[in-house]
Amino acid sequence: MRVSILRQKSPESEPYREIFEYDGSSDNSVAGVLDHINYNDDIVDINGRRTDRIGWECSCLQGICGACAMVINGVPALACETFVRDLKGEEIDIRPLRKYPVIHDLIVDRKSIHENLRQTDIYIGEYQPSDKVGHEQQYIAAKCLKCGLCLEVCPNYVNGKKFFGAVFANDCYLVAARNRSKSKDIVGMYSRHFGGECSKSLSCMDVCPMKIPTIASMAWLNRK
Ligand code: FES
Repeated sequence: MRVSILRQKSPESEPYREIFEYDGSSDNSVAGVLDHINYNDDIVDINGRRTDRIGWECSCLQGICGACAMVINGVPALACETFVRDLKGEEIDIRPLRKYPVIHDLIVDRKSIHENLRQTDIYIGEYQPSDKVGHEQQYIAAKCLKCGLCLEVCPNYVNGKKFFGAVFANDCYLVAARNRSKSKDIVGMYSRHFGGECSKSLSCMDVCPMKIPTIASMAWLNRK
């Protein structure tokens, strides 16, 4: 199998493609494929030319940390949860998330996700056990990995602009539902940075690795 990777040496340099050969198991994940290529002392491309190890991030290899988010065959996904046997064709096409600045190869700078939450004070703070209703949605919304896959497919999200995307909407819901004294301010932030600009394509829910039904968070906040 061919593995075509969009690489970039540094934030300033130009991206370029490099193609590798993969002859391992189809039961491997894409994370495993990258490991397989990087494992050799001499990394060579499909033409036998020596090259550098591929830069990519991972921590858990279990779909928990969100670090391995990238675009695989055109679909934003976690590399550790995408298996070769499930991919179509003879080539795996891998590129970094394109909504964030590339640091190196498949590693991108996603700090704006957390920066948006920090700037708008979307954090739990004092915990106030709330009404019994909504606990299930709170539990589900809290599963967000902050991986950025939802923002990659969102037609409205542009890094650095006013609209903060699904990751923000779910955290707004979570904090507002758990902390009544912050609820009013959060609903205001939600309107400013999400509610007014979401065009409801809901593609965020299609790619979310935790299957978070963002529409349920939106419905609660819109009612408020
Ligand atoms: S390595 Fe943690 S989610 Fe893939």
